Amino acid sequence: MQFTVAVDGPAAAGKGTISKALAAKFGLAHLDTGLLYRAVGAKGGDPIEAAKSLTEADLARDDLRSQTAASAASKVAVIPEVRAALTDFQRDFAQRDGGAVLDGRDIGTVICPKAEVKLFITASAEVRAHRRWLELGGIEVEVLAEVIARDERDMNRADAPLKPAADAIVIDTSHMSIEAAIAEAAAAVAARLPA
Ligand code: CDP
Ligand code: CDP
Repeated sequence: MQFTVAVDGPAAAGKGTISKALAAKFGLAHLDTGLLYRAVGAKGGDPIEAAKSLTEADLARDDLRSQTAASAASKVAVIPEVRAALTDFQRDFAQRDGGAVLDGRDIGTVICPKAEVKLFITASAEVRAHRRWLELGGIEVEVLAEVIARDERDMNRADAPLKPAADAIVIDTSHMSIEAAIAEAAAAVAARLPA
């Protein structure tokens, strides 16, 4: 069975949490595509070469969760050759037998425009920055500034900008519990799953 769930949205909206829950509930494989861009940014040197030669070890670095890694990711993510070098890996993952959930920025628009389910998870910048601050600590207004700067870069780049696909289901989690957001996403998947 091929069945792709595309989960996009801005920083710290809840994409990863929802995607992991969907993967577990429906037995789908999960790929956090942000990790690919974080690994390219963290590798240093020529980002295009880094994207062409990513290894499992690059993806397993334990410094990829930081705000510094997130900023570096969004800077290399504007480079079309970097995005192109990561496309086949993501598409192959999406087409694996048994189905897959991919979360990122351009899954429903560019990587998997024919995905069976497209979700766009969002929340206000203040709520998202507060969640990221609870996870990572630091100074909350600085986390908010980083999140806003990264959203702007992601939404305004020429290649694969962050935006909901025309046929995406938009879920605003600003005032939703994690459980409620997962339940809404799971209902959307269940409605499209082949019998
Ligand atoms: O993957 P993404 O950056 O979109 O977000 P995440 O890592 O899934 O979620 C960011 C943080 O927000 C995590 O600590 C989640 O537990 C939390 N969260 C929340 O408090 N309420 C939600 N409805 C969704 C996520
Ligand atoms: O978890 P969070 O939403 O904060 O970030 P992430 O999903 O790990 O993505 C880090 C950065 O990688 C984003 O700000 C984007 O610039 C870039 N990215 C992208 O361009 N396309 C994707 N499919 C995934 C991430």
